[in-house]
Amino acid sequence: MNDALILDLPSPPPAVATPAPAKQNKFVADDWNPDRFDVQHWLGRAAWRTLKDTEYGIGREIAPTHFAVLDDKLVNQIYKLDIATFLTAERVSYKGIAKLIQHAPDEASQIFLATQAVDEARHYEVFSERLAQFGVSPEDRDQMMEDMTTKELRAFYHLIEEQVDRGDFAAAMMAHNIVLEGMAYPIYRYEAAYWSVFDPSLTQLIRGAFADEVHHVRYGEAIIQRYTKLGDDTRNRMQKLAHDFHGLMSSVFESSIRHYIHLYQLVADQYMDVIGDIDIFAGRKMRDVSETEQVHILLSQIQEEHSTRLLRIGL
Ligand SMILES: [Fe+2]
Ligand SMILES: [Fe+2]
Repeated sequence: MNDALILDLPSPPPAVATPAPAKQNKFVADDWNPDRFDVQHWLGRAAWRTLKDTEYGIGREIAPTHFAVLDDKLVNQIYKLDIATFLTAERVSYKGIAKLIQHAPDEASQIFLATQAVDEARHYEVFSERLAQFGVSPEDRDQMMEDMTTKELRAFYHLIEEQVDRGDFAAAMMAHNIVLEGMAYPIYRYEAAYWSVFDPSLTQLIRGAFADEVHHVRYGEAIIQRYTKLGDDTRNRMQKLAHDFHGLMSSVFESSIRHYIHLYQLVADQYMDVIGDIDIFAGRKMRDVSETEQVHILLSQIQEEHSTRLLRIGL
């Protein structure tokens, strides 16, 4: 075939690109944006980022545990009791959230709650693992959890469980992801600082859980806002519940001050040279704030964050 012939051939019609179909929502989500709360997001946030290169939440390069945590009876005791207290809340969380999947108002919420249940189960697991590493058997762990559940804390957990058992999704979400989680994360922030010199491993565990709790609160805010906009009776129910929880939170803190604060003060006094320089609150060093004062600051931070959050979500 010569060149002239090739040039005479009719040219093919220009390719017309088929336009990509407009992306649809993959889940039914009623009036809220589920993309930040799906499993893909969970993989990026937790599995591939916070937990990458850790084993049971602890990285390999972490600084060693201070000898006092292992050898000083009192430090060892409050270390274990602190973890046991976290465990009581994590157990309420994973059991409650797993039950709530069936009551979620839309498919996207069910998927989110499945990731939250995994987060909470993981928190329960890593704190149990840490106690096991310190020689605590499951039976002794259960006993410690029981001992740390004061009458007031029991009443607080009971009110949360009651909302779940009634299958009232809005109220249960309010209890779990606004109240309990909202309370957990100032506490985790405080505890992460408190243990940072004694046991950097525990601090890493707490920070890992903290990152998840922040995310759970974000979902709580998004979904509750959806309910407060409905303008029906749900808003009143949630408001009343928020009020009841507010009172219970204060008694939980008062009871922990009554029962345990002297132990923490003894440790602080004895090890001030080790922990005195910790910034326990923004701009406040451990050596400058008594333990009782610390609990009061913590409670007022919780109450303040709680009130701002309620305002923001329209309650
Ligand atoms: Fe948790
Ligand atoms: Fe959580």
